[in-house]
Amino acid sequence: MDDLKAKYLSAIADAGDESTLEDLRLQAVGKKGEVSLKMRELGKMTPEERQTAGPALNALKDEINSALAAKKAALGDAALDARLRAEWLDVTLPARGTARQGTIHPVSQVWEECTAIFADMGFAVAEGPQVETDWYNFDALNIPGHHPARAEMDTFYMHRATGDNRPPHVLRTHTSPVQIRSMQEQGAPIRIIAPGRVYRADFDQTHTPMFHQVEGLALDKDLSMANLKWVLEEFFTAYFGTKVKTRFRASHFPFTEPSAEVDIQCSWENGTVKVGEGDGWLEVLGSGMVHPHVLRAGGVDPDKWQGFAFGMGIDRIAMLKYGIPDLRAFFDSDLRWLRHYGFSALQVPTIRGGV
Ligand code: FA5
Ligand code: MG
Repeated sequence: MDDLKAKYLSAIADAGDESTLEDLRLQAVGKKGEVSLKMRELGKMTPEERQTAGPALNALKDEINSALAAKKAALGDAALDARLRAEWLDVTLPARGTARQGTIHPVSQVWEECTAIFADMGFAVAEGPQVETDWYNFDALNIPGHHPARAEMDTFYMHRATGDNRPPHVLRTHTSPVQIRSMQEQGAPIRIIAPGRVYRADFDQTHTPMFHQVEGLALDKDLSMANLKWVLEEFFTAYFGTKVKTRFRASHFPFTEPSAEVDIQCSWENGTVKVGEGDGWLEVLGSGMVHPHVLRAGGVDPDKWQGFAFGMGIDRIAMLKYGIPDLRAFFDSDLRWLRHYGFSALQVPTIRGGV
C-alpha cells in the first residue's frame, strides 16, 4: 500500500494536463484500477486481516481521489491564467485596419461656430432645462393661458398622473425661457447667448420635431433696435465669411415689442441650397426689443433697463452655410450622410481660424 501511495501521488504531482490525470485516475481507482483490485482481495482475508486492511485501503483511495481533485483544479487555474495572458488587449491603442473615424455633426459644428462668434462680441453662454415648466416657456414670456401662440407652437406636453392638477411641464418650444432664468440669476446689465435643443410637433423640408436654437439677450441702459441689427449683421458676416443679403421683416412675438424676423437670401436648385444668390428666402430667426412684462417676470425693472433678444435656428443656418437642402436628413443617422457632411474632430471653430 505504501508503494501504491508513493507511486500515484508522485505521478499525479507530475501530470501536465487533464487527460494524463484521467488516465491515472482509471489506473488507480477506476473499476479495474490497482486500488480497486486490492479491495476485491478483502473478501479472501480473515476477519482480523480485513479489520486493518479495509480502513487502510479506503484511506488510500480517499487520498488519491483528493490529490486528483486538487491537481485538476490547479491545472484549470493555470489554463485560465494562460488564456487571460494570451487574450490581453490594450483598449487604449488607436483603432487598426478598417475601423472608420467618426465625425462631428454639422449641428455641433455650427453650435460651436455661433458660440465662438458671439463670445468674441462679449456674450457669455447660459443654459436651461429641456423639460421646462409651463410658466417659463409661456407665462413669463407674456403668453398667458389662452393665448393663441400656445397652439401655434405645436407644443409637446408632458404626461401628468390622473388627478394631478398642477400645470403641465412641456418640452420647451424655444430657447426663450433661458432669458427669464438668466435675468433671475444675474439681473441687468446682461449679455448672454443660450444654444440648445427645442421641440415642436412640426415636420417638413425645413422643420423637424427636435431642432436647435441659439437665444441671445442683451440688456443695458440704452440699447435699441439699431444695436440688435448691428449684432446680427456682424454675426452673419463672420459666420458666412462674406456679406449676405438679409431681410428684416416686421413680425409679432408676445415677448418683444417691436418684433422682427430675419430671412436670408438663397437659391434652391439641383438638390442644394446656396446663400447669396437666387430669389428664395429662408427665415433664420425671430427678434425684437424685450417686452416690459418679460423684464418684470425676470425680476428686472423696465424703467431702468431695456434691450434686445433673438432666437436663431441653428439647423437652418447650418443648411445655408453647408448647402444641405433637407433638414430631416440631419437626424436620419445615415452613415454616408454623416461622413459627407460631418467635420473632423480637429476642425475646432475659432475666430482666428476664420470660423
Ligand atoms: C421663436 O421661437 C422665438 N422664441 C424667437 C425669438 C426669440 C423672438 C427672442 C424674439 C425674441 P420662431 O418660432 O419663429 O420664434 O423660431 C425661431 C427660428 O427657429 C425660426 O426662424 C427658424 O429658423 C427656427 N425654427 C422654427 N421651427 C423650426 C423647426 N421645426 N425646425 C427647424 N427650425 C425651426
Ligand atoms: Mg418664425
